[in-house]
Amino acid sequence: MLPCDTLIRNASVLDGTGATAEVLDVALCGDRICAVGPSLSFTAASVIDAEGLTLTPGFIDVHTHDDIAVLRNPTMLPKISQGVTTVIVGNCGICAAPVRLQGDPPDPMNLLGAADDFRYLTFASYVEAVHAAQPAVNVAALVGHTSLRNNHMDRLDRVATDAEIAAMRAQLEEALAQGALGLSTGLAYASANAASTAEVIAIAQPLASAGAIYTTHLRTETDAILDALDEAFTIGRTTRVPVIVSHLKCAGIANWGRSDDVLNALDAARTDQPLGFDCYPYAAGSSTLDLKQVDERILITVTWSKPHPEVAGQPLKAIAEAWGTTQLDAARRLQPAGAIYHSISQADMERILAHPATMIGSDGLPYDPRPHPRLWGTFPRVLGHLSREQQLIPLPTAVHKMTALPAQRFGLARRGLVREGCFADLVLFDAAKIIDTATFADPITPATGIAAVWVNGTLSYQATTPTGNRSGRFLPRQRIQWV
Ligand code: ZN
Ligand code: CU
Repeated sequence: MLPCDTLIRNASVLDGTGATAEVLDVALCGDRICAVGPSLSFTAASVIDAEGLTLTPGFIDVHTHDDIAVLRNPTMLPKISQGVTTVIVGNCGICAAPVRLQGDPPDPMNLLGAADDFRYLTFASYVEAVHAAQPAVNVAALVGHTSLRNNHMDRLDRVATDAEIAAMRAQLEEALAQGALGLSTGLAYASANAASTAEVIAIAQPLASAGAIYTTHLRTETDAILDALDEAFTIGRTTRVPVIVSHLKCAGIANWGRSDDVLNALDAARTDQPLGFDCYPYAAGSSTLDLKQVDERILITVTWSKPHPEVAGQPLKAIAEAWGTTQLDAARRLQPAGAIYHSISQADMERILAHPATMIGSDGLPYDPRPHPRLWGTFPRVLGHLSREQQLIPLPTAVHKMTALPAQRFGLARRGLVREGCFADLVLFDAAKIIDTATFADPITPATGIAAVWVNGTLSYQATTPTGNRSGRFLPRQRIQWV
């Protein structure tokens, strides 16, 4: 009998490919899976009887704003408690590095942390900080276009000059050499909206030869979403780089029902360029409080406000009534502030999530004092609510969307699969019980039904408690092989 460190016996294994479950044993040696098969003959210091439980690859949260959270709160309870073993940070144009601030972080960089959290002048210094913090989950990082703009421009409400573009491009190139995954944009935000398509294309030049990726929070997710998608496709085709459209949705009541058009546009473009997209399983979005998104017909909840912290958790409508003013005026007085917008139709969200190419990304905001429940609930909500209860997608498909599919899209080699030789990022859960418990009223609460989580072979979370062992790594970019 061969020795291994951990032997998981008789688990119902979903390997991440979308294949149906098989009852198998899985042996872990060091940070790897060293064998997968029926009735393995291994001896192990730790033997786990997993009969009746489902074992899958650790979940990859492709859309996060955990840039600073992985350093300040390395236990990463909101994520490890869901079975997430890898987070991709630096989304929506905002990142922690490379950053040089003058004063406060601009909107929406203020979603990540306070001014003194931004201490990483180079991407390499951020990588070092991740090593030093040793978070419970693996971290891969994009460089944000808005952060680059803020490093090199005196004001963000204009297009960058050629000299500024050259400086941003050089900084991106340096970060890519230090392991960055690619470039993200947040073109909808005022801090990047003045950037032209040509500005983004010029900055993105180093991506193709580095085998890197482009992710985008589209210029708009409302009326002109098809134009915004076209812009993203153009940027990808012109620079010869794979594109990921972040948190795909049709926002605003006027756009409810347009998910078919949006998915058709993506499917058409997918036939001639590499394209991916992600989605979170809620009919509400969250970000900074944006005056353009104030609509009296939808519920908007204020999650934080710098001048008025006392109103956190209250509907904007109630705040406006108490102040004897309109919601728009109240929103203006609350700035800077954060909000949850119930501005998505459930049917559109479900249609997008069920599309075979859609990955799962939480878009959780860990720095928010009253975060959208997606921060703690996304993955168990897909598995327990949308797959088991609503039967929107079969369980093996749901697992594929959060494991092998994102690993392939983001070039995370040897992750996202239960296979010999792969890293032992694994989740063991009760498929009949797994469910999110975080709600809009009570958002900071862990999911139930997760039995155990391993990260790089280390048991990191067990039956609702972190084990205290953290073994996440920084994952430098590998060339993205896209088929
Ligand atoms: Zn975004
Ligand atoms: Cu985001």
